[in-house]
Amino acid sequence: MSANQSDPLQALLDILSTQTAILKSAYTTNNTTVPSLDSPFEPTSLESDPAVAAARKLIVAAATQLIATVQSPVEYLQNGVSGMFDTLTLGFVIDVNVPEILKEAGTQGLHVKELASAAGVDSSYLARVLRYLATRHVFNEVSPDVFAHNRLSSLLTKAKSLKEIEEGPQHARFDDAAMPAFLHLASDELFKSSTALIPFMKNPQEAAAPFNIAYKTTKKMWEWTEEPGNEYSSHRFTAAMKNTAEASYPPELFTSNIDGDALKANETIVDVGGGVGSVTLALRNAYPKLRYVVQDLEQQIVAARMFWEEKNPEAVKTGQVQLQAHDFFNPQPIKNAAIYFLRLIVHDWPDQDAIKILTNVRSAAGADSKLVLFEMLAKHVAEEDTFTNSGGSGPGAPYPLLSNYGIAGAGFFTTLDLALLTMYNGKERTYAEYTELGRQSGWELQEVRPGKLSTFIYSPI
Ligand SMILES: C[S@@+](CC[C@H](N)C(=O)[O-])C[C@H]1O[C@@H](n2cnc3c(N)ncnc32)[C@H](O)[C@@H]1O
Repeated sequence: MSANQSDPLQALLDILSTQTAILKSAYTTNNTTVPSLDSPFEPTSLESDPAVAAARKLIVAAATQLIATVQSPVEYLQNGVSGMFDTLTLGFVIDVNVPEILKEAGTQGLHVKELASAAGVDSSYLARVLRYLATRHVFNEVSPDVFAHNRLSSLLTKAKSLKEIEEGPQHARFDDAAMPAFLHLASDELFKSSTALIPFMKNPQEAAAPFNIAYKTTKKMWEWTEEPGNEYSSHRFTAAMKNTAEASYPPELFTSNIDGDALKANETIVDVGGGVGSVTLALRNAYPKLRYVVQDLEQQIVAARMFWEEKNPEAVKTGQVQLQAHDFFNPQPIKNAAIYFLRLIVHDWPDQDAIKILTNVRSAAGADSKLVLFEMLAKHVAEEDTFTNSGGSGPGAPYPLLSNYGIAGAGFFTTLDLALLTMYNGKERTYAEYTELGRQSGWELQEVRPGKLSTFIYSPI
């Protein structure tokens, strides 16, 4: 036991001071300083630097654990239970274009009366909303009732100017602005659906998901957004999702884990539920001697044709890449492919549906076919022997941090898990659950490779 193992508070402070020094030195080496909270966010290469990311993760994990340790438990829980106001206040300011108005006002900021008048809302309500957010470090109150952007609030700004938003069609205002679109959606469909989460969990046989109770529909959320009258939701959902996967996951994550060099020329890789086929495009560039099939529902395949027409029309013309309308609840038409892969599909579905999808793939697979899933791996908060032994994650966080780094490691991830439950009754799964999912659909989990998305490699049982 090291000296600090009997003094968790000191161990947290040690992590904070060591990692803050590492963070500062990374910025100093690049002739700059750690960005101030008071200035708008400016993306730099250091934002994605692995050493910076590792230091930041430890600092956030230690700082949040320090707060949980020293804050009055009553205050801690009172703050935690007000989370819906985080959602609603962010949704409100985005809705009434406060971020665009403040962006045009510049660094000196704007008095809340002028801000409210430009936004067309009551200034006393807006003042309270902004005070709530600025208290939580979103927006800067530069002098009483005068607000300006800071590092966090600057990310709420849409891609269009205030004039373009006001003059253009409402449904298009989130175009090319994934972050505000996602936050606004969270304050709307996700928030409304979440009010049905408790009734659903107490009575899950009543509906397919909390969304279905809240919206009084039997349709899946993505079918509902396609209904006439829901164009605004549909556009916003597309904007929120567009490029998120591409920006979040580098193509090497897929090209290196699919092991295409081990395949013979003209062997086939099937991208099941592949959307427009953006992963397949990366694979086709990395392994040009293989053949590919991108499968999705008819309307997605229409979008996929346009995508490939722009990116690589030749690959489709020659038949090297086939775009195929296929519902994955029907029998898989491509038999004996070398690899069937699914990216971010099974987490959208409850177990019985995920098993149907994977069983359909298994029925078409040959003895040497592989199934590859690219998904997030849910980790227990307690140390996990099974997964660590499987070579997946390596050691957990250092003492005295939570093994999964708390919200620094699994914050967004646990939120996403509950969001999937709320909207589709989907789930993020643990190592044991991925093993069981395979077992029940005829696949044996052979290997898990860690990464921003984990790679799960299965062989037929
Ligand atoms: C979260 S997206 C993932 C798309 C793609 N795999 C990717 O990572 O970019 C889920 C995809 O599943 C598709 N999907 C939903 N239900 C389906 C079904 N029954 N059969 C085939 N695809 C379906 C959707 O159209 C959508 O493209």
